[in-house]
Amino acid sequence: MKKINRFIGSASSIPLSFRYNTDDIIDAGDSFYDATGECYSALFADKKKDDISFYVSLAKERGGPILEAACGDGRILIPVASAGINVTGSDVSEEMLRICREKMKDLPDQIRPKTGLCRADLRALPFRQKFRMVFLPYNSFNHLLNREGQNACIRGIHDALQAGGTLVMEVLPYHENYDRALMLRKKIYIPEKKTKVVMYSRLEHDKENCRHKVHWFTQIKKRGKKPKRMITTFTRKDIPLEVVIGILTGTGFNVEDIFYDYRRNTEKGDKRLIIAEKV
Ligand SMILES: C[S@@+](CC[C@H](N)C(=O)[O-])C[C@H]1O[C@@H](n2cnc3c(N)ncnc32)[C@H](O)[C@@H]1O
Repeated sequence: MKKINRFIGSASSIPLSFRYNTDDIIDAGDSFYDATGECYSALFADKKKDDISFYVSLAKERGGPILEAACGDGRILIPVASAGINVTGSDVSEEMLRICREKMKDLPDQIRPKTGLCRADLRALPFRQKFRMVFLPYNSFNHLLNREGQNACIRGIHDALQAGGTLVMEVLPYHENYDRALMLRKKIYIPEKKTKVVMYSRLEHDKENCRHKVHWFTQIKKRGKKPKRMITTFTRKDIPLEVVIGILTGTGFNVEDIFYDYRRNTEKGDKRLIIAEKV
């Protein structure tokens, strides 16, 4: 990470507290997950719970072994493991894997041996083992910015599945405009860490390249310490559902179902969940 010596955009597009004394602001570039990992669970994972029962019920219905690709801090992996299903997680972020590993220590003794973790890029999944299902939740696929990477990911998942195995993935709904002005996104106190976190975000749409960039301005203040301020971004690809389906069918998947919410609504809703079978 390097210290920031530039502003992103005009003054009004960054929070006031980031406009001055910029010497100690850390520019964490696009390593959003590594940089904010220490607070990620409190900021995001503890708030997003609506999809967990969707994945756990599929895991119980169809059984393991399961791979969760881009498992992050284990938000879904831990409940799936707790249901007694054999599950492995992979992610590219060391920090997210470290947090997941910590959480796995609290799993019961009879469950822990049925779990595994490994560092892997979605575009080069390394598994020899064949899985009954692969989960790719929470729009992680949208982190892959070009077709080459997206194809490599789906091919890797296809290779990692048993014949007749199932891929379950969630992608972002496609929008024409993702631009969003600067806004306060989170303001929380984490009692066990005696830490206050304030986060602002701004979304920038690069329509020409069908990408949107989320700029995060994060201030982490531990009691008795100087606040840590950092600017970090992540970029996501806007991928129409038909394109994802095209990649899947072109790679040897049969799309079984598309759900528009976590209750498996097949007609309307603001989610895009794809269930595809390896043929
Ligand atoms: C939105 S989080 C989802 C985490 C977890 N699946 C969940 O549902 O909470 C996206 C995850 O994708 C990971 N990620 C992003 N790009 C990746 C890549 N190219 N290969 C592997 N993991 C990646 C990040 O490190 C992060 O943990």
